Amino acid sequence: MKNIIENKLRSIDRVSFHVPGHKHGRIYKNYGLSNILDLDTTEIPGTDNLHSPEGIIRESQIRAANFFGADNTFFLVNGTTSGNLSALMATLNPGEKVLVPRNCHKSVVSGMIMGGIEPVYIMPQIYRGISMGIDLHTLENKLKEDRQIKAILITNPNYYGICVDIQKISKIAHTYGKILIVDEAHGSHLTLSEELPMDALSAGADIVCQSTHKTLMSFTQSSMVHVKGNRVDIERLRFMLSMNQSTSPSYLLMNSLDTTVAILIEDGKKLIENLIRNLEEFYKKLENINIDYFSKKKLSTYNVYDYDLTRIVIDMTKYGINGRLLEKILYEKYNIQMEMSDTNHIVGVATIGNIKDDFEKLYEALEEIKNIYGRQEIIEEKSINYNIMPKVVLNPRQAVYSKKKNIDFHNSIGYISAEYIIPYPPGIPILCPGEEISEDIINHITLLKENNINLTGMKDTSLKFIQVIEK
Ligand SMILES: Cc1ncc(COP(=O)(O)O)c(C=O)c1O
Repeated sequence: MKNIIENKLRSIDRVSFHVPGHKHGRIYKNYGLSNILDLDTTEIPGTDNLHSPEGIIRESQIRAANFFGADNTFFLVNGTTSGNLSALMATLNPGEKVLVPRNCHKSVVSGMIMGGIEPVYIMPQIYRGISMGIDLHTLENKLKEDRQIKAILITNPNYYGICVDIQKISKIAHTYGKILIVDEAHGSHLTLSEELPMDALSAGADIVCQSTHKTLMSFTQSSMVHVKGNRVDIERLRFMLSMNQSTSPSYLLMNSLDTTVAILIEDGKKLIENLIRNLEEFYKKLENINIDYFSKKKLSTYNVYDYDLTRIVIDMTKYGINGRLLEKILYEKYNIQMEMSDTNHIVGVATIGNIKDDFEKLYEALEEIKNIYGRQEIIEEKSINYNIMPKVVLNPRQAVYSKKKNIDFHNSIGYISAEYIIPYPPGIPILCPGEEISEDIINHITLLKENNINLTGMKDTSLKFIQVIEK
């Protein structure tokens, strides 16, 4: 028998600083949990129903809510994507507006398309191409200026571990009578320790969507959405979740969410403590050999409120090694897989599934790379404008349903894009349907292409052509 996918997957055995957080099943194996095939079932007597839970799923969701500090928790089998879609569609009517920092995930824009919701964007501060914090005065002023804004959606932490002050944002939101949704796709572990940035539920958010598969250990595609307080119409949220998710939810995924909570209740504190101590030691050793990494101290400007140290962001450009090259060397020569890289940095996701040996291997590799490849010269960064906020001409839904045509990408200045252009990872659109194409955007995208950054969302993946709205 030739299993194409299985054969390939089993042949990959790398040190993992990428998602999923269980790290090749290591956490499950540690707890003797590998025999799961017979758990793949459907709604039969005794197995309950995700869409109207009354039995084991209800019990498990209540336990999760208690653990994370929510009033209601819903299991997701279509990722945080389905959580973001449903949260937006449950809190905003068509034509209403949501205030969103521009570094949001594609699923947030998809929610606007599906719900006919209008975006009001604010631009985060940018440091070397990375979104940092947001200015809370700007946020508050937008709320004062535009009474049509009904909700705020904040991504926190972002892909690079950068955190904003959710507690303050929550106070501002509630002062103006708005609902605060937090896309906490990268922060489901924050609740585990006071040493980590504050989690969104503790900070006062109304709805929180978490990819427990990324930073905890549930299976890929399983996530949770939590609700706290009485500002959210729970029945409407339930309806939207039901609409945006499969009618055949996987019991393997739901069970992995349940197991995640079970393990965390028993050992969460111990596991996160180990992880934090391993990371502190790792960072100290990097400091000693003068390798730069992100930390709260180093990012204290740029409106950064806090930093999640479990996101490893390393910059070796001062030794002439850019992020793309560093990721490639780690993978090809040292068998270490990072989560992603950009032109300057590599990004790793460290979770309670990582052991001390993983950090030692990464440290030793970085030290050797510095010695072998380091040229002690700073790479000249090309002068490009990262601080681009495209002009929204049509709302995303109007754009998707408008008449379109293909035109040459380099001659598209002034046209309205009918499609996304999204570097993946991190999955944050540079251009969304309905936005005007400017010279800055074309230059920015051209540079990403030159650096072999994977771009998605376009019909023509070579990006010779782009789909625009017919004038
Ligand atoms: C900020 C952010 N939000 C939402 C998502 C979507 O999460 P999921 O993959 O669980 O659907 C991602 C995925 O990378 C993300 O980075």
